[in-house]
Amino acid sequence: MTRIIDGNEVGNRIRNELEGRVDTLEQQGVTPGLATVLMSDDGASETYVSMKQQACDEIGIESYHHEIDPDTSSDVLMDRIDALNENPGVHGILVQMPVPDHVDEQAVVERIDPMKDVDGFHPENVGRLVAGNPRFKPCTPHGVQKLLAATDVETEGKDVVVVGRSDIVGKPMMNLLVQKAPMGNATVTVCHSRTTDLAEKTRNADVVIAAAGVPELVDGTMLSEDTVVVDVGVSRVDADNERGYEIVGDVEFESAKRKASAITPVPGGVGPLTIAMLLYNTVKAAGLQTGVDVTLP
Ligand SMILES: NC(=O)c1ccc[n+]([C@@H]2O[C@H](COP(=O)([O-])OP(=O)(O)OC[C@H]3O[C@@H](n4cnc5c(N)ncnc54)[C@H](OP(=O)(O)O)[C@@H]3O)[C@@H](O)[C@H]2O)c1
Repeated sequence: MTRIIDGNEVGNRIRNELEGRVDTLEQQGVTPGLATVLMSDDGASETYVSMKQQACDEIGIESYHHEIDPDTSSDVLMDRIDALNENPGVHGILVQMPVPDHVDEQAVVERIDPMKDVDGFHPENVGRLVAGNPRFKPCTPHGVQKLLAATDVETEGKDVVVVGRSDIVGKPMMNLLVQKAPMGNATVTVCHSRTTDLAEKTRNADVVIAAAGVPELVDGTMLSEDTVVVDVGVSRVDADNERGYEIVGDVEFESAKRKASAITPVPGGVGPLTIAMLLYNTVKAAGLQTGVDVTLP
């Protein structure tokens, strides 16, 4: 029987653990705070930010939302980041990407105080991750590790194929999995758009993590029996329903399920973990900045 990995259940368990850590901080007079900054009119970005704010509220993290007119200069955004860096009530800063074309995304990432970089994208935090001494693990790949651990999938000694090499998912996923650390010690192959025979790579994998943003790129014919499949992809495709679209992942679920020993659905798989790990990083940031011990698993 193929196990369907329930991201909502695992995410809720992590949130419950974090609620206890928020209480610990409160007892020491610290309310953890996350600032979200949106410089976009994009509906999906607005939705993502409001989901993150709501998740904060649910476990007692204070969220501070800042909207910046996308037609203003990048200086306005930079000045706002500087002010948030200085604000002791704000322990984490999240600038929702993408920012408008006239704003240098990398400059934005580098402007955020690395101690408040709860996305884990600042070069200092990327360097620490690569060096095996992470401060803030990027939320989505960290969430994938948590899902695998909750499913009792041991990565040590396994052949893992990661499809996608972005800075936010593919590369940090690889960096986490190769570490000499729990839920690491894997042999990792990273595939991308120039990989010549993707199916040959995925068929030889014990675990496939798909993060390409290409709807249903990986199907059952590309998998061996008993592969563990984690689908990070989220794409909107036209559909004959009321909304006019549906959300699909990078994996063709039905055919992949017939081969997999365990598989994440879309939605309800990786997505809830991405948000849970953002809360995790915010609680960790609050602990680091105030000296309160919130030791996290
Ligand atoms: N569930 C969540 O919480 C969550 C979080 C983050 C992202 N996502 C989703 O995950 C997906 C990936 O996000 P991202 O930000 O990493 O995307 P991205 O920046 O567009 O990167 C996509 C990667 O996939 C590779 N790729 C594209 N087509 C491919 C193909 N046919 N075969 C093999 N590799 C291919 C690209 O290769 P090149 O480098 O050669 O271009 C690139 O490395 C998206 O659907 C996104 O919405 C979900």
